[in-house]
Amino acid sequence: MNLWLTLLATSTIARGQFLRVQDHPQHQAIFQSVHFEDGQFDNHWNEPGFDVDLDAQRLVQFSLEAEPVYMTEREKLQAKALGIKYLDVTNVHPTSFSKKRHFSYPPPNSTLVPSLLPLLSAKEIKANLQQFTSFRTRYYNSETGKASSEWLSQRIRNYTAELASPELQRLVSVTPFVHRWKQTSVIVRIAPENATEDDPTTVIGAHCDSINHENPFLPAPGADDDGSGTVTILEALRVLLKSEYIPKSPLEFHFYSAEEGGLLGSLDVVASYEKAERHIKGMQHFDMTAWVAAGTEEVVNILTNDVDPELTEFLSQLAERYVEIPWVQEKLVPGAGSDHMSWTRSGYQSCVATEALMANSNFGHIHTSNDSITVSREFSFEHMLHFSRLAIGFAVEMTE
Ligand SMILES: *[C@@H]1O[C@H](CO)[C@@H](O)[C@H](O)[C@H]1NC(C)=O
Ligand SMILES: *[C@@H]1O[C@H](CO)[C@@H](O)[C@H](O)[C@H]1NC(C)=O
Ligand SMILES: *[C@@H]1O[C@H](CO)[C@@H](O)[C@H](O)[C@H]1NC(C)=O
Ligand SMILES: *[C@@H]1O[C@H](CO)[C@@H](O)[C@H](O)[C@H]1NC(C)=O
Repeated sequence: MNLWLTLLATSTIARGQFLRVQDHPQHQAIFQSVHFEDGQFDNHWNEPGFDVDLDAQRLVQFSLEAEPVYMTEREKLQAKALGIKYLDVTNVHPTSFSKKRHFSYPPPNSTLVPSLLPLLSAKEIKANLQQFTSFRTRYYNSETGKASSEWLSQRIRNYTAELASPELQRLVSVTPFVHRWKQTSVIVRIAPENATEDDPTTVIGAHCDSINHENPFLPAPGADDDGSGTVTILEALRVLLKSEYIPKSPLEFHFYSAEEGGLLGSLDVVASYEKAERHIKGMQHFDMTAWVAAGTEEVVNILTNDVDPELTEFLSQLAERYVEIPWVQEKLVPGAGSDHMSWTRSGYQSCVATEALMANSNFGHIHTSNDSITVSREFSFEHMLHFSRLAIGFAVEMTE
């Protein structure tokens, strides 16, 4: 997840006019407020297996409403180090799929969900996250980042082979989504036999990459951001496979690469779905689900920025029905952003939940070598289970 430290006003910029980041008065103020050493983001250790072009020109948006600006990859990393969020839209081209269906959501009432929830296991979540954080970094343009998404694909294939009946196995596909960089996204689809191209798909997502914002060549275990979201939805998927759940409409789990590069992976995936004129019934996203700050009340935080209000209301109803701790809503000015914004940007309906109120979230450790599962007792596997419950509730209520 990315956090704004400063509110960026963009009202003075005429539509369609691209500026360089240093020409933009508000950005100038932010960038000049911090001193970056020359060569800060270079590979000082000759660490092998990376492909980073710090001088590459990128087209970047600082919010969904802001005009894009040109900046280098180095300036993107400077913005990341300052905690500024952005979308990198360099390779995203407008598409013509304007006939998207709009969905509304009746209140949750499944009788199946309560029988699935006891199958969730904090032990399983912990074992997966131990493995997933053992990659030195999951930086999207590194060999270890690539290896981490291959591990994830294999973990899901193993679960499918070990837990699902032959009948269900035929309905499950695990597909690496290849990008312009090393790491892939991973798309898991469970579709009933009679599903057609026109059937709306339900999507549950998290991002599988990580970054060290001091320098992308340094270790980044990414336990909370977003290893936690990844294993949260992986555990929901495991329980659905084990319980032989067959959805009546297509259900997908998405593990996005390169969120830390500016939502690059999800922007690619959404563009491909738009191109294929796919209808999306709703997208539920999880970014950071593990942290319970000492002395704070444990909550589920449902964000209200850059999301669909109806789906967000539905998510709150799911939390009320299936989660045992209180839920809260937070509108972020300044805000935080993640891959659900790629769906919102294209006019699809999305929602997002996160570990705590922003003030109590794990912003002291993410994007550093300290974002590990052992950094503090505030890192809680039990807390993550609440979000797995939300994912199961969403999956079943949307596709039963
Ligand atoms: C849940 O509500 C839907 C309509 O909103 C209805 O079709 C369905 O039968 C209900 N299911 C249960 C278990 O009450
Ligand atoms: C998948 O299963 C194979 C065979 O049991 C095992 O060797 C491999 O380590 C497993 N991989 C993952 C990621 O679970
Ligand atoms: C597929 O079959 C199920 C019953 O098994 C039915 O509820 C659903 O409407 C069917 N979908 C299509 C697209 O025919
Ligand atoms: C990691 O945590 C240690 C101990 O709290 C602290 O001294 C160090 O500065 C932290 N490192 C980073 C990169 O945040």
